[in-house]
Amino acid sequence: MFALAVGSMSLGCSTETRYRVFSVIFDGVPPPGTPSKPRRRPVAVMTARVEPPVAPLPDLESLEELVEEEDQQPHYESFAEILAVFPKDAQGNVDWVEAVELGMVAPRPSLDPEVQAPPPFPVDIKIDPGIPGFEVIFPHAAHTYWLGCNNCHQEIFVMKAGANPMSMAKIFEGEACGRCHGKVAFAPATGCPRCHVRLGGPTG
Ligand code: HEC
Ligand code: HEC
Ligand code: HEC
Repeated sequence: MFALAVGSMSLGCSTETRYRVFSVIFDGVPPPGTPSKPRRRPVAVMTARVEPPVAPLPDLESLEELVEEEDQQPHYESFAEILAVFPKDAQGNVDWVEAVELGMVAPRPSLDPEVQAPPPFPVDIKIDPGIPGFEVIFPHAAHTYWLGCNNCHQEIFVMKAGANPMSMAKIFEGEACGRCHGKVAFAPATGCPRCHVRLGGPTG
């Protein structure tokens, strides 16, 4: 009621009346005719207003669908739980090559989203230590899922079958295949039959 009274009084009243009414209600009201003080400039001025990104709000129905879809996705609490669903090799280690072939992981060719993955290079190379049953098949295809040619050629291997002397001892020391196997790829100590393909048994 009070606010209403003030409001109606200030409407259309003279500056004198307005001053009288306002100085009763508020302290420090300048009398009419007082030259207004030069305002202090604010010290810092915010010029750019940060606008939140504007996304159209989806309608309720599509939100509900989204939540339902989310609920149907498997939820994992830890990396160990994720690893548990990946295919394993005969030694029980994650078989990353099969994981790519099953579409469970899709290695990116580059951090640059514009870069296209080159097609896998389907050339197998037989590396023969001369001990029957121990020949090695080096599969280019599986390696080119993850690596570019220049990760191996020509620094680790010259591009010519048989031109790179290798041995198990060197591999265990981290040379040749051991530059990656035992570090970022399955370990030599447990992966014998994956390289020595005939060690897997009569059919492997
Ligand atoms: C990452 C692939 C890879 C794995 C895993 C691997 N080898 Fe080898 N192995 C090779 C290559 C390559 C050679 C060298 C072939 C040559 O002489 O040119 C080799 C050579 C050998 C040789 C020949 C003699 C020598 O010492 O060079 C034997 C025996 C052998 N490996 C046994 C094994 C056994 C047993 C395991 C498992 C404990 C194993 N390899 C795991 C790739 C592998
Ligand atoms: C993980 C390592 C690695 C990668 C990646 C790789 N290579 Fe190789 N490449 C090898 C090895 C090991 C050999 C056999 C060397 C030996 O026998 O001494 C080889 C041999 C070759 C040879 C010789 C074949 C012959 O018959 O003489 C060519 C050609 C070749 N690679 C091309 C490529 C191309 C093209 C790419 C990329 C698409 C590529 N490589 C990626 C490891 C690799
Ligand atoms: C520059 C790194 C690198 C080098 C060098 C390398 N590899 Fe690999 N290799 C990989 C990666 C990465 C994988 C996929 C991950 C895994 O299987 O653990 C792989 C996978 C493989 C596989 C599994 C293929 C399949 O289909 O399951 C074989 C067999 C193999 N490598 C043999 C070799 C042999 C033999 C050599 C040496 C002549 C070699 N690799 C050298 C990185 C390398």
